[in-house]
Amino acid sequence: MTSRTYPSADASPATKSPNTHLNLDVWPKASSPLAQDPETEARIEAILSRMSAEQKVGQILQADIASITPEEVHKYHIGSVLNGGNSSPGGKMRAAPSEWLALADAFWEASMQPDGPQIPVMWGTDAVHGHNNLTGATIFPHNINLGATRDANLVERIGSATALEVRATGMDWTFAPTLAVTRDDRWGRSYESYSESPDLVADLGAAMVRGLQGRPNTPTFLDADHVIATAKHFIGDGGTQDGRDQGETIATEEELRDVHAAGYYRAIGEGILSIMASFSSWKGQKMHGHKGFLTHLLKEHWEFDGLVVGDWNGHGQIPGTSTTNCPDALNAGLDMYMAPDSWKGLYTSLLSQLQEGTICQDRLDDAVRRVLRLKVRARLFTQPKPSERQHAGDYHLIGCQRHRDLAAEAARKSAVLLKNANRSLPLSPRQNILVAGKAADDLGILCGGWTLSWQGEGVRKADYPHAETLLQGIKRVAEADGGNVEYAPDGIYQSTPDVAIYVFGEKPYAEFRGDLTTLDFKPGNRTDLQAIRRLKEAGIPVITIFLSGRPLWVNPELNKSDAFIAAFLPGSQSGAIADLLFRQENATADLDFTGMLPFSWPEHADQYLLNQGDTDYQPLFPYGFRLSLQDTCTLGQLHENSLATEPDHGTIFDHGAPQGSWEILLTDPSGHATWKGRSLVSPAAEIHAQPADLGQQENAIRVGWARTNTATLTFLHPPLDMTREANADFYLKLVLANLPDDINGTQMSVISGSGRIRMGDLLCMYRQEETDLTLTITIPLKKFASAGADLTSVKGIEFWNPGSGQIVISHIGISTL
Ligand code: BGC
Ligand code: BGC
Repeated sequence: MTSRTYPSADASPATKSPNTHLNLDVWPKASSPLAQDPETEARIEAILSRMSAEQKVGQILQADIASITPEEVHKYHIGSVLNGGNSSPGGKMRAAPSEWLALADAFWEASMQPDGPQIPVMWGTDAVHGHNNLTGATIFPHNINLGATRDANLVERIGSATALEVRATGMDWTFAPTLAVTRDDRWGRSYESYSESPDLVADLGAAMVRGLQGRPNTPTFLDADHVIATAKHFIGDGGTQDGRDQGETIATEEELRDVHAAGYYRAIGEGILSIMASFSSWKGQKMHGHKGFLTHLLKEHWEFDGLVVGDWNGHGQIPGTSTTNCPDALNAGLDMYMAPDSWKGLYTSLLSQLQEGTICQDRLDDAVRRVLRLKVRARLFTQPKPSERQHAGDYHLIGCQRHRDLAAEAARKSAVLLKNANRSLPLSPRQNILVAGKAADDLGILCGGWTLSWQGEGVRKADYPHAETLLQGIKRVAEADGGNVEYAPDGIYQSTPDVAIYVFGEKPYAEFRGDLTTLDFKPGNRTDLQAIRRLKEAGIPVITIFLSGRPLWVNPELNKSDAFIAAFLPGSQSGAIADLLFRQENATADLDFTGMLPFSWPEHADQYLLNQGDTDYQPLFPYGFRLSLQDTCTLGQLHENSLATEPDHGTIFDHGAPQGSWEILLTDPSGHATWKGRSLVSPAAEIHAQPADLGQQENAIRVGWARTNTATLTFLHPPLDMTREANADFYLKLVLANLPDDINGTQMSVISGSGRIRMGDLLCMYRQEETDLTLTITIPLKKFASAGADLTSVKGIEFWNPGSGQIVISHIGISTL
């Protein structure tokens, strides 16, 4: 293991005690090119002096479009709306651009009613790799790819193109760029980070800000071609312990300054208008409540006069607060709460806290001033309603040829050639070419998370009609020069090919859903390796293209491949990579690979914290590694020792067995018995269990009670923290045999740090879906919390039935719907 060892930091759980002390003398100053203009400031003061307490509180709240109506924006004087990764107009994932624009108008008009303060509401969206919540948009490669291009000019052009597509649907603001410097590549957001190198993050982050907002102090700054950008997540998001999303950042103050802050100096230098607080904590203190960072460093020391916005209900994670009751965040320096579904509760609690003096008038006024300053700087007060602004309704911009060409350029420039044994590449197009692997033609895998939905699930080819998948690109290039392409997703071909191009990779994910315990790609499931091996055994050379959100341990696949390309998450124009694979007969100059690794590539699956500059730095491929087609490849046979990897705790019961460390106990007053997959009776015979079939052989467990009211069926686990899942609206999902008469009366409890909390009768309370065979029950995790469970330490769930009921369970898991 060659990981870097960090100096030990106090990783105690988040505490409420304010530990705000930073040694600001060691932090350089930052300098924004945006001077405060006296006229603007006077205007802000004039507006402020006319605002009521209600109007001020409303102005610092941001609600999700799924949880607010235009009427409510008017009534509560809401300052901003956002669409979260899963929210869209009318809840329609594939809403047309015109529906987005119409909704933008509706919110804007509501904020401009003559009987209100007439402060235009602004709409924020996660346009993090193009206008990615919209069907038909150009989906640019993710930031990890942009890191591989090393091309700041390209990144700036991508920022401008993204801004235009966002403008076409009437939004004002994007939550990008992410300036995280990922240190532990197990982190599920690694692909949102440009690089492990603070310098590269700083360069490309600055370029993205310029592209999105325009150049400060020029007429283009935040003109009709640009949108407000957000530097996120402040600070330390990429440095959390074990790469755990939203976790505790393990770094000294100097490391925060030199590594994690690098992007912020430059973004401020480009006139960034907003900065988002991080979900993470440092020395046990959550960033949303950290006055040292939000106020002393950012606003006082760096003199940032823009807006500090929160992350998705992130304020509610400050110990002792809740999503609807959290004066602490405002007091620490947050200016706008991202309060998707909690805005109304916050509105009420903040107003009474203002009266009681828990928050002071000056801090509230300062926050409102910052919101207004942002709106003035973004020219919102002088613009007509969204649909009447320049570029609004120019739907031809969405996914236009010029933007697609840019996305193609980025896909090409970010593909990193890692192996090219015997100069297998470039290929002659005039041969029989097999393309294998489902990923070759799967836009979901090619684009990754934050595409159409938060997790990037459910993406279809029809959603991006202008896209070119890898398969389509290979066909375009090879067939133009007389080649023959066969596509076999499983690698089973009809006619023997001369060469195979095998494409595989990670399934899409976002945020903590992508956290890993080791860097092993798909431990225990190497179907891709088997497919590659079959081709090799048939004497066919294999060119492998790997799609992933981070470097992963793929030694066995590398060994079997003649050439290997790390393409990361190349986006909707992935097909452009095909231009690099073939010797093109009519091309004036052959294209070559120029992509360079933005992250060090591990030789062992436990090299999580592998970063250039480490004292004992032994990567398989170092930071910056690249091969060109001219290079001779010297990669020898690699070891294939994988590591044991912990399973995903989100699945509790499946395939007829408890998963991971989950255990099933049958308990009655005489003691308990642990289920091992066979028939089992509790010590006093009050409850019994046996394997059962639910559409498949032995994929379920049947449990029956003997009318005693004292026996329980318990699923147990060492304490798990499910706060993040609850915050993101996850559910406990139970799939049962559809036997309502038998289940009738079955009760459920959740066991956590706060003891056993009774949730009530399964059949009465929760959302159910039925088929002839199954009954699916979904319980929002938030319900557990509101019933009093401690979601920082969930230990299990329990069922009992006072009658002689029975229950057949085929699946229990924690998931989105
Ligand atoms: C993410 C942010 C994102 C926000 C709004 C959060 O969960 O951490 O990066 O901007 O949601 O979707
Ligand atoms: C939202 C995302 C958000 C996430 C928070 C999801 O439900 O759609 O935008 O980032 O929750 O973790």
